Amino acid sequence: MDFEEGVTLTKYLIHGGRPLHGSIEISGAKNAAVAILPAALLVNGKCRIENIPQISDVTLILQILRELGAEVRTVNRTTMDIDCSSIQNAPVPYELARRIRASYYLVGALLGRFGWAQVPMPGGCNLGGRPIDQHVKGFLAMGAEVEVRNGLIDAKAPGGRVCGGQVYLDMVSVGATMNIMLAAVLADGMTIIENAAKEPHIVDLANFLNSMGANIMGAGTDVIKIRGVESLKGGSYSIIPDQIEAGTYMAAVAAAGGEVEIKNVIPKHLDCITAKLLEMGVEVEERDDSVVVRRDGPITRTNVKTMPYPGFPTDMQPQIAACLCLAQGTSVVTEGVWENRYRYVDEFRRMGARIQVDGKVAVIEGVEKLTGAPVHACDLRAGAAMIIAGLAAHGDTEIDGIYHIERGYENIVEKLSDVGADIQILFVPDDDAQPQVG
Ligand code: UD1
Repeated sequence: MDFEEGVTLTKYLIHGGRPLHGSIEISGAKNAAVAILPAALLVNGKCRIENIPQISDVTLILQILRELGAEVRTVNRTTMDIDCSSIQNAPVPYELARRIRASYYLVGALLGRFGWAQVPMPGGCNLGGRPIDQHVKGFLAMGAEVEVRNGLIDAKAPGGRVCGGQVYLDMVSVGATMNIMLAAVLADGMTIIENAAKEPHIVDLANFLNSMGANIMGAGTDVIKIRGVESLKGGSYSIIPDQIEAGTYMAAVAAAGGEVEIKNVIPKHLDCITAKLLEMGVEVEERDDSVVVRRDGPITRTNVKTMPYPGFPTDMQPQIAACLCLAQGTSVVTEGVWENRYRYVDEFRRMGARIQVDGKVAVIEGVEKLTGAPVHACDLRAGAAMIIAGLAAHGDTEIDGIYHIERGYENIVEKLSDVGADIQILFVPDDDAQPQVG
């Protein structure tokens, strides 16, 4: 997306109540890209990475890689050549790292390559406490000394190279699994991660690293073994499609009605979402690399509990809740991963939703209609849920805080407009408080 000079991107305006028809192409997976791009730091040669999503989190990581001396060349809209052969190790700039959660992958990658990393504590969505103790536990098991002080993670391998180690994760953590994997690829010896996360992006990171010469076994199961190798060579790799982006558009069709083919997906990765939509009376037809979602009747109530993969993804919880606001009957949503993922509920209430939250449980009493309102996107997936609610609502919904949404959804306005949604970006000129449609 281009930003005009002197203009700040501020809001989305949605005229709701239009069913969606047509097709949407899914981009590369955000949570795979934000690990695979730092993983290029481990490679002594040129990596051609395809299917990179054009989102602001990716832009920030590429900026950090450039700051560290990587040569980054755009091949086409979604393909980059990244060569980290001549990078220098240096503290990662605070201003860039603090803005993304995934900056913690730089610790694993730099520690693995140089035996030393200094990275500011990560930013990202506020979903309650986001500790990194399991990442640290892994690095310690690999012989590194780790200190968290002055807002920095400082990890150092005494001999200049981490060694293999065995770590049992106290909880299933996507970030810790990937970070330990990154640190272990060039380690001296074998690293074993037990109780590892199994998300599709874990497998994608392992496939990327293996295609560059790493020796990782068991990714996608709960025990991953990484035999350290001396070096990684360059190669080409294509990132998997984004499970959550696809799920978000599936939920949008469920809420707004209509029929949309969601293309460039791995249907297997969507099973956990498809199963819930089917229970809700939404039709989902799986094809080879697409799913067709259809909804013209009422939505039926259901219960949802979020869990690590292959359970229902926490990153789809707000979007499915948006659909359940319009279901016949009362649904119970239980958040099984994060402490505080219901900050969006007050915004839904402004649109007429009936939701009660008690700790990790939300009870949603379906209403016949939602009504448009000014709302705030308090984090990435909550922002996506506001869009879904806005598409289904009667009247106008104005969403602010949309920089959160731009972190993880490529061209969301264009993609939705192409299937008939009435959604526009409102720009506010720097010296004027009145929004202008753009
Ligand atoms: C990643 C995703 C995020 C998703 C989450 C769970 C990225 C960039 N983000 O986040 O969108 O919601 O997986 O699928 O990929 N925990 C600890 N100690 C740790 C690490 C985690 O207690 O050291 C806890 C967390 O507080 C949370 C749970 O474990 O309750 C899962 O967190 P984790 O899987 O690590 O999430 P992230 O990798 O940060």
